[in-house]
Amino acid sequence: MSTLVNLAYLAAAALFIIGIKRMNSPATARAGNRLSAVGMLIAIVATLASARILSPWMIAGGLALGTVLGILLAVRVQMTQMPEMVAALNGLGGAASALVAWAEVSRYTAAQAEGFAGSAFARHGLAALDGRLVITITLSVLIGAVTFSGSFVAFGKLNGKISGNPVSFPGMRLVTSLLALVAVAAVAFPLVMLGDSGFDAGPLAVSTLVLGVVALVLGVLLVIPIGGADMPVVVSLLNSYSGLAAAATGFVLENQALIVSGALVGASGIILSKIMCDAMNRSLLNVLVGGFGGGAAEGGARSAAGLTVRTVTPDDAAVLLAYAGQVVVVPGYGLAVAQAQHVIRELVDLVQARGVRVKYAIHPVAGRMPGHMNVLLAEANVPYDQLFEMDEINDEFERTDAVLVIGANDVVNPAARTDPSSPIYGMPILNVDRARNVIVLKRSMAAGYSGVENELFYLPRTGMLFGDARKSLERLVQEIKAL
Ligand code: TAP
Repeated sequence: MSTLVNLAYLAAAALFIIGIKRMNSPATARAGNRLSAVGMLIAIVATLASARILSPWMIAGGLALGTVLGILLAVRVQMTQMPEMVAALNGLGGAASALVAWAEVSRYTAAQAEGFAGSAFARHGLAALDGRLVITITLSVLIGAVTFSGSFVAFGKLNGKISGNPVSFPGMRLVTSLLALVAVAAVAFPLVMLGDSGFDAGPLAVSTLVLGVVALVLGVLLVIPIGGADMPVVVSLLNSYSGLAAAATGFVLENQALIVSGALVGASGIILSKIMCDAMNRSLLNVLVGGFGGGAAEGGARSAAGLTVRTVTPDDAAVLLAYAGQVVVVPGYGLAVAQAQHVIRELVDLVQARGVRVKYAIHPVAGRMPGHMNVLLAEANVPYDQLFEMDEINDEFERTDAVLVIGANDVVNPAARTDPSSPIYGMPILNVDRARNVIVLKRSMAAGYSGVENELFYLPRTGMLFGDARKSLERLVQEIKAL
């Protein structure tokens, strides 16, 4: 039986890894997701069947209930609510790890109540409590509880139930530091108390309880001072924590599938957080310390006073697009807000039919969540081979006749290259300002996420088409059809 279970775990781990690899490209991401889900099903069934703690009917019932809930969630959630759903799922994962670790502590304390710890543990099939076990149990509780409360604060900030502004109070950092010290002490206490006898579960139960409560408060204090717009990075980091908590629980239960899947989640979450921070040219510490992206930030270092803006009419813009050799479309957060993905696809189809070459330029942090633009454009069935990442397309802007910027702002702001005093200086951007003509679709001159002015909008070759992006695109479609 154990060989079969181990083989099932091996198959599950292989499916997780192949699945993650396939999520690298939009073309294979769906298949990757399915492969990983099959891996998880194999791991769950193998674990429950081998542990023999539930009847086959209960396993089938649990799977059916979980499947229905999962399908309901997946169908109902809006694409823009995805980060909050991930936050909630991370939180539940963290809570599960902490509760499993606590259940182990309860088993030890119950066994010990029966008599001399060592023999009572053995009668219940429990190994003697040693340093390794104590550390993994306490880490599961610490990381799991921080992940749970932190993720639900992130969830609240993302769906507007908690203020998106950084929240703090005088002495907050001191309180957080003191609680962190208490947490370290609660991990160390049962280790010290283990002593030579090495069997007493009492100190472990006490410190695990204290640790659980302290960790819940710490989770809140760590996330609440961070601005709502930085939540995607925080969610990705908490995702990594939930993986670490699961891996620690895997060591407690000596379950290889949990160790492997937890380590994969832990590593991929931290890599994704790093990619997001690099693309914003900010350090993870800078995100975690907060103070950026909460509400509207201060205006840019360079003022736009005295500069004039050129507006274009939909018919002028339509002519420019319809008679261009190459057009590059740059989608940004405003595309998601306006839900303009279907109408941009229609417009691109129209100009392509007239012989225009069209490419989409995708900035790694355009929008508000990883892969936001890819997901939106996939929803409108935009062919993947028309999507180009920043590094692939940045040299092409000089040879591009017209760039259509749809609700993008920071990711096309030349100040990131030219203005060392700008908060976004150093952030890699799409070189839209080097194109022959630029048409920008946005509602006003308002700043984007970072709150800074954008010189691109004032360049002589830039024309602003003000209005909701979907309405403007619909006008453009009408005009192009009429040409
Ligand atoms: P932003 O810089 O946020 O700019 C979006 C622009 O869209 C705004 O200037 C807004 O101008 C316009 N807009 C909003 N609603 C619109 C509508 N209905 N129709 C037309 N335009 C509309 O977006 P971006 O260029 O995509 O940059 C993303 C930013 O988010 C970056 O600073 C990035 O660092 C940050 N960020 C990204 C992520 C991820 S993972 N993607 C995570 C955290 C932070 P108006 O109000 O004038 O219309």
